[in-house]
Amino acid sequence: MTTDAASPVLALRGCVQTFVQPGGGVLTVLDGLDFNVEAGQSVAIVGRSGSGKSTLLATLGLLRSPESGTYAVGGVACEAMDERGLARLRAERFGFIFQEYMLMNRHTVRDNVAVPLSTAPAALWERRESLVKEVLDLVGLADRSRSRPRQLSGGQKQRVAIARALVRQPSIVLADEPTGALDPGTADALIDNLLVATRHQGAALVVVTHDREVAARMDRELILVDGRLVESSRTHP
Ligand SMILES: Nc1ncnc2c1ncn2[C@@H]1O[C@H](COP(=O)(O)OP(=O)(O)O)[C@@H](O)[C@H]1O
Ligand SMILES: [Mg+2]
Repeated sequence: MTTDAASPVLALRGCVQTFVQPGGGVLTVLDGLDFNVEAGQSVAIVGRSGSGKSTLLATLGLLRSPESGTYAVGGVACEAMDERGLARLRAERFGFIFQEYMLMNRHTVRDNVAVPLSTAPAALWERRESLVKEVLDLVGLADRSRSRPRQLSGGQKQRVAIARALVRQPSIVLADEPTGALDPGTADALIDNLLVATRHQGAALVVVTHDREVAARMDRELILVDGRLVESSRTHP
């Protein structure tokens, strides 16, 4: 899929997302939200629980279409795409990191990391061994490639999740509370790994976090409040 190199990696305009509540009322979670991410940029999104951070990440990751507004990924408009087109764009452009790792416990580290390549064109699948090795090197787990997830610490599992998110060389990595289950020292090391690995690949990074120290390490920090994003005062240009 061709994308325009001069366009922002992500451009979301006037995004609205609502949920119908059990009583029948409508909850507006995103309320005309605008968000741009430039190539290679790292962005933290903070906000109180229930403010819509996960809904925003699901929207960015093409898992939920905006009810109104426009969304473009690398200059490609997503509104008119069908499910297949969206799935392909998602697989080609995005890496996902979940708080609960979502690793397959019966499989080795390298098989877990190779999962996103299973739907890739043959040319990428054939290079899987070297692609997996490269990302395991990046996160410092080359010597654990034949281990199973249960043999790893929480921090190591999270690094496997980073490697898996990067193995298809996405242009953007989306992470929902990636340090939520880690102690402060491990969290700090994880963010080191995540920043080094995404910068090495030139990928942009959007991290949802409750942790102000994690947020402070990103290029930009945005707060989700009343369905919109506002720039935090600490953000440097
Ligand atoms: N599938 C859903 N159905 C109904 N309400 C939902 C659903 N998903 C999320 N919500 C509500 O939308 C709001 C935002 O949720 P979420 O995006 O998960 O917030 P955050 O990640 O910031 O905690 C919350 O009030 C939540 O209860
Ligand atoms: Mg959430």
